[in-house]
Amino acid sequence: MLSADVSLAPAAAAAAVRPLVRLRDVHLSFGSTPVLKGIDLDVFRGQAVTIIGPSGSGKSTILRCMTGLLRPQQGEIEVDGTRVDRLASERDEIELRKRVGFVFQQYNLFPHLSVLDNLVVAPVRILGRDKASATHTAYDLLKKVRLADKAHAYPGELSGGQQQRVAIARALAMQPDLILFDEVTSALDPETVGEVLTVIRDLVKDGMTCVLVTHEMRFAEEVSDAVYFTEAGVIVEHGPADALFRAPSSPRTREFLAHTQAAPEAERAALPRTPLKLDLRHFAI
Ligand SMILES: Nc1ncnc2c1ncn2[C@@H]1O[C@H](COP(=O)(O)OP(=O)(O)O)[C@@H](O)[C@H]1O
Ligand SMILES: [Mg+2]
Repeated sequence: MLSADVSLAPAAAAAAVRPLVRLRDVHLSFGSTPVLKGIDLDVFRGQAVTIIGPSGSGKSTILRCMTGLLRPQQGEIEVDGTRVDRLASERDEIELRKRVGFVFQQYNLFPHLSVLDNLVVAPVRILGRDKASATHTAYDLLKKVRLADKAHAYPGELSGGQQQRVAIARALAMQPDLILFDEVTSALDPETVGEVLTVIRDLVKDGMTCVLVTHEMRFAEEVSDAVYFTEAGVIVEHGPADALFRAPSSPRTREFLAHTQAAPEAERAALPRTPLKLDLRHFAI
């Protein structure tokens, strides 16, 4: 039987449903250790998609694949039509990273630059924006993350939550197509977690495409369009947030959720707090 929906031409219909991020059968090993074992994942424009799962299950590795920082041995990764798994030159990698913002657990701000300069440096040096307009945008973004009064402070003078909000504003300053958040509240003092989640919630409401890795299950349930549960390098289950959190189909998902919901503080305490090395490849300046 023919489809009843003939309102869109075939090419337009395909474009309308094409995911912004598309992973198919992605396999990645570190040496002889397989870490991703056939990941399929879709993120549509304007969606917030969350990846949850135990520590070591491959969540960060999936995000790093999306930015081209890691190359899978097998499978396809597409971001807005670009085959990320096939990027041939450093120039193409930099082009991709202009479009994909990445916010880490450790904020990785440039400590020797003021908050304002942290937001201005990459748009000027990488995107070639003029300094006055980049500065204007930076002030707007600082207002958005409720830090307009900290423009001239240095990162070391700010709380963890404030630094993380600067890191989010810095990612936004590049006007990316999507932003990846990797456990961005895990290293924060509990009292500053809420202010960072509020900023992310606002971004999701504004329609920014977001991929989140988080242990904040209530937040994930509230903001996510889709949730993926990973374990040992496979997607055990995925679906709409309310279905996955309220009626998970896999016993593994149920067990994981029971554990994290029963003991969120223990989960938080178990997370690594050691600072990660600043990954300058992300800020090619
Ligand atoms: N650069 C690396 N070299 C070797 N093993 C790694 C590297 N990065 C991650 N791994 C391993 O890959 C697995 C998945 O890591 P990761 O994606 O960071 O998990 P998650 O973010 O879910 O905690 C872990 O067993 C981790 O030790
Ligand atoms: Mg991780």
